[in-house]
Amino acid sequence: MDSLKIESDKAIAEYKELLEKLTVKFEFLHVSNMALFLYYITRIKKPELIIETGVATGQSSFFILKAMQENNSGKLFSTDIRYDAGEIVPDYLKDRWDFTVLKRDSKKSFKKFINNFDKIDIFFHDSDHSYWWQTLEYNTAFNHIKNGGVLISDDIDNSYAFLDFVNKNKMDFYSFFNMGSIGGVIMK
Ligand SMILES: C[S@@+](CC[C@H](N)C(=O)[O-])C[C@H]1O[C@@H](n2cnc3c(N)ncnc32)[C@H](O)[C@@H]1O
Repeated sequence: MDSLKIESDKAIAEYKELLEKLTVKFEFLHVSNMALFLYYITRIKKPELIIETGVATGQSSFFILKAMQENNSGKLFSTDIRYDAGEIVPDYLKDRWDFTVLKRDSKKSFKKFINNFDKIDIFFHDSDHSYWWQTLEYNTAFNHIKNGGVLISDDIDNSYAFLDFVNKNKMDFYSFFNMGSIGGVIMK
């Protein structure tokens, strides 16, 4: 565990250096608990396939890709509705990254994207946190997660979608505080 701490501290330092070079900086770019959680779970589970919805500047993408670089395995498929999302992800991490721009509020566009995958190790939701969109992502993505895989969601306190999803399906979940919101984790 100590070596993981040393390693993640290095990843944080690298992230902060990249952040310094960005011309536009946002307040939420401090390293979040969620980004660190994604780093640790990627290092520990060594997933082959992670799907991420909602990239923004690319903090979560960076920490997943950095952990995959350490693992020397895995591929991350991310989506956003912004063409210019992920500006912090450096070229040297992009060989394990596939970024797709989806149409805003398009159920068809999301379903078409997720249908490309049937053995997801980790699905991470951090896109549109409205009730209907979270419900759509959880319901659709869960069927594509392999047994032993994990669904992770940021902002489960933003709507009742996550709680309704776990209650309806009688699932256990874990939650943790993440910079003013709550992250949720379901093991399949
Ligand atoms: C909270 S930010 C993502 C933060 C990012 N995961 C991180 O840790 O830095 C939300 C992002 O979701 C994107 N978004 C909004 N609706 C979306 C949708 N339907 N599908 C994919 N991305 C969406 C927004 O453009 C925005 O960039």
